[in-house]
Amino acid sequence: MKKLYIETLGCAMNVRDSEHMIAELNQKEPYELTEELSEADLIIINTCSVREKPVAKLFSEIGVFKKFKKPGAKIGVTGCTASHLGKDIIKRAPSVDFVLGARNVSKITEVVDKKHAVEIDTDFDESTYAFGEYRSNPFKAMVNISIGCDKSCTFCIVPATRGDEISIPSDLLVQEITKAVKTGAKEVMLLGQNVNNYGRRFGSSEEVCDFTQLLQKISKIEGLERIRFTSPHPLHMDDAFIQEFASNPKICKQIHVPLQSGSTALLKEMKRGYTKENFINRCEKIRSLCPEATISTDIIVGFPGESDEDFKDTMDVLEKVRFEQLFSFKYSPRPHTEAAEFKEQIDNTLSGQRLTKLQARHTEILDEIMDAQLEKIHTVYFDELKSNGRVSGRANDGKLVFIEGSEELLGQIVDVKIIKTSRGALDAVLT
Ligand code: SAH
Ligand code: F3S
Repeated sequence: MKKLYIETLGCAMNVRDSEHMIAELNQKEPYELTEELSEADLIIINTCSVREKPVAKLFSEIGVFKKFKKPGAKIGVTGCTASHLGKDIIKRAPSVDFVLGARNVSKITEVVDKKHAVEIDTDFDESTYAFGEYRSNPFKAMVNISIGCDKSCTFCIVPATRGDEISIPSDLLVQEITKAVKTGAKEVMLLGQNVNNYGRRFGSSEEVCDFTQLLQKISKIEGLERIRFTSPHPLHMDDAFIQEFASNPKICKQIHVPLQSGSTALLKEMKRGYTKENFINRCEKIRSLCPEATISTDIIVGFPGESDEDFKDTMDVLEKVRFEQLFSFKYSPRPHTEAAEFKEQIDNTLSGQRLTKLQARHTEILDEIMDAQLEKIHTVYFDELKSNGRVSGRANDGKLVFIEGSEELLGQIVDVKIIKTSRGALDAVLT
């Protein structure tokens, strides 16, 4: 059997794209996954281009792969960097056999045997394509509900690499999730760049269905016990959506609300469509209707023109919302984005200091949140066997929980009591 080595960088959407490619390849000819590069017949690097670093790393990595691959093995570059650099990747690294864009993953079997094929069409409509089945975790399913992004956040390259936003018909989603449930998935993760903008545009049908209606539809699937989604956009968090999130027992009480900046002036420059006050108001609404929910966020520091006052506003939102999880980044100028042309780029040292300050304060808040979990009861879906006689899973609110045990706990949703806390995870015993 041929062997496939696949490296996945970036977001959950990329993880799902990798699953899709594995499924498609397997339908044509069975592949065994390997973590040994030198054994692989096919090497795929599924790339991310949201920040500059991983892009720079790509070419050095291709060099290493070229050196250690077995003779005749193929190298493919897929994902967002493939979309934005296209044939230049092959020009710069002729050892790359094919380039496949983030919106073209369904074409993997077409390009895999075509020397120097480049498929990077960002208008390509994959929204009704039924991919083969493959899940990296048998207990959970990831399902794309939309592809692309219709926003134009001035820092972000994603609309240029993934194209316009198209929603996947709800019947197809219900069909796909039902199939996954039948083969052991009790949990689904709905994926999209702006999941709560679902239904804005479908590829061809006359369908009318917004995200709240989609959640209601999906929660009727028998045997499905947990629904998660990422990422929603703060702008589309209307009351009906928050109400559904809070009251639907199948929806896990974990929500990502990407802030980016706490400064209303900078949010305007970023074209995010909300103010500091709107953002805080939406988080307060979530906290009031659903006090058990955890809220995570993304923050960029050092966006062009960010003053001390702007950064203070970001720190102020951190203080008011007390996010349970923070993904924070130094602004990285990207090609094809408006902000890369903005004049007032911020000094790297200053951005670094702000990032450190933000992360330090978040860590203090997180420690308080995690310490308070001691003795608490959490309902955990165990889905991973660890090597040291332990099993891990996620609490309903997304916290990582470990317990002593073996296979029989896998696939079980059980109540546990927290006996030890740390910053990243909780230790528990059965109740
Ligand atoms: N649609 C997703 C965002 C995808 S990009 C969402 O709204 O959550 C993931 C995160 O990367 C963004 O939320 C942002 O915080 C960060 N990011 C995007 N472009 C960036 C850039 N140019 N520099 C630094 N961080 C960036
Ligand atoms: Fe990027 Fe903004 Fe879309 S962060 S993915 S352009 S919502």
